[in-house]
Amino acid sequence: MIKHLLHGVLAMLGMVSTVVAADSPASLMAQYAQQAGVPVSALSATRGGEFYRTEHPGRNGQSVSCASCHTATPTQPGRTRVGKRIEPLAPAAHPQRFTDAAKVEKWFRRNCQDVLQRECNAQEKGDFIIWLSQVK
Ligand code: HEC
Repeated sequence: MIKHLLHGVLAMLGMVSTVVAADSPASLMAQYAQQAGVPVSALSATRGGEFYRTEHPGRNGQSVSCASCHTATPTQPGRTRVGKRIEPLAPAAHPQRFTDAAKVEKWFRRNCQDVLQRECNAQEKGDFIIWLSQVK
């Protein structure tokens, strides 16, 4: 009996965690807006697009931007510095984008350090996702 109950509870917990783990561009935008202390309506696709294209001085003297690897057209596949294919960053072209918060955070941390030599803040991340999710 107790064992049965326990199984029921565990099954329910499993269901709850599945729901919580289902990230989407919209849920990530909401999360970043909240972290930035602004409403989702204060995120800006225009700012996100500028952020994506802005060139920064790179370590080896060459300027670098998010577009350097992800290309000027984020519905197109990109390339790493060693020429490895990167699936398109825009969810319109690659629906798996922005569906895994841990993956998104990992790559924001890594790529922002690489391009800006600092972490991106929550507002920048929210702007970035709202812009990409509107790219057709
Ligand atoms: C040196 C090449 C390079 C540059 C420059 C770069 N990225 Fe990326 N990015 C990658 C690679 C490689 C991946 C992981 C492979 C994949 O997900 O297809 C990735 C993945 C991502 C992801 C994961 C998205 C998801 O949900 O799958 C985000 C977010 C991201 N990059 C943001 C940025 C931002 C913001 C910038 C500019 C500040 C940037 N990237 C610049 C190479 C780069």
